[in-house]
Amino acid sequence: MKKFIYIFTILLVASCMPNKKNSNEINIYSQRHYNVDEIQYENFEKLTGIKVNVTKANADELIQRMKNEGNNSPADLFITVDVGKLWQGGEMGLFQKFEDESVFNNIDPQLLDNNGYWVPLTYRSRVIVYSNERVEKNELSTYEDLSNDKWKGRLLVRSSSNAYNQALMSSLVENLGSEETTKWSESVVANFARNPKGNDRDQVKAIAAGQGDLAIVNSYYIGLLLSSEKEEEINAGKAVSVFFPNQGEGERGAHINVSGIALTKNAPNKENAIKLIKYLNTVKAQETYVNNSYEYSVNPNVKPDEIVQAWGEFKKDPVDLNSLGTNRNEAIRIFDKTGWK
Ligand code: FE2
Repeated sequence: MKKFIYIFTILLVASCMPNKKNSNEINIYSQRHYNVDEIQYENFEKLTGIKVNVTKANADELIQRMKNEGNNSPADLFITVDVGKLWQGGEMGLFQKFEDESVFNNIDPQLLDNNGYWVPLTYRSRVIVYSNERVEKNELSTYEDLSNDKWKGRLLVRSSSNAYNQALMSSLVENLGSEETTKWSESVVANFARNPKGNDRDQVKAIAAGQGDLAIVNSYYIGLLLSSEKEEEINAGKAVSVFFPNQGEGERGAHINVSGIALTKNAPNKENAIKLIKYLNTVKAQETYVNNSYEYSVNPNVKPDEIVQAWGEFKKDPVDLNSLGTNRNEAIRIFDKTGWK
């Protein structure tokens, strides 16, 4: 009997101790800042019983944190809204490869990581939006044309410290080369309606307020404005139309970026983390993204939300997405050199 009590006590104590390997949770370091993520994690928790802990911060802070924590990092997964930061994490040795065909088969091959370190969750285009009152659609054509004098004092865009702009500039470096891109940036800065400030939504609101006529923003923000509960935001969304640049014959297509996920090198809850990656890749989770955050699904069979469908289909710039990371330093150099604050 004594022996039985002894074993029973050991089992009881063991079951109360935190056990990293078999714990029923996952830890995510995430840069995403949209309400849809909470819906995804709640649905995943209900389905699997695995608790999802999220630490939110900007991508640079999270990368630094993982680097400092080293092998002891509690992070299982890293999520960003910019492929440049995913490339950087892979380059720094923070991730392990994820090579599950069952996931990749559901993804447009153009969106995959050639190095195998990250998995795209959604994609988005950085588009031009224009005032319905002061710009005609046929005046617009390409990103390159934003350097045209006709836009002097009319163009709105956020600051160059933002990763979305850095990715766009990196794509121009990849497509046009540094010299052309530097000239382009100089002329674009000369066309600014004001010094860069605010986020993408603020640029759209500024068009509605007559402070400028066109802006460079991520596509889904128009969906978020139009579906907002605030009248001011709905009105801002209604004041503009979406234009996908570089769609003409022989042109490369509109710039896209992905929001993606990576498995960390020492993921303490690796099995659970893989389950979440697979879950976020399901048709159900992909539909949850498109219908709540107005992003595009990585699964070609999942249609965008109706608001987004109304903008029509578009051709995507086919550059290797990792080039949006490898060209990042050059992009930042061009921003600094051309006075894009
Ligand atoms: Fe965003």
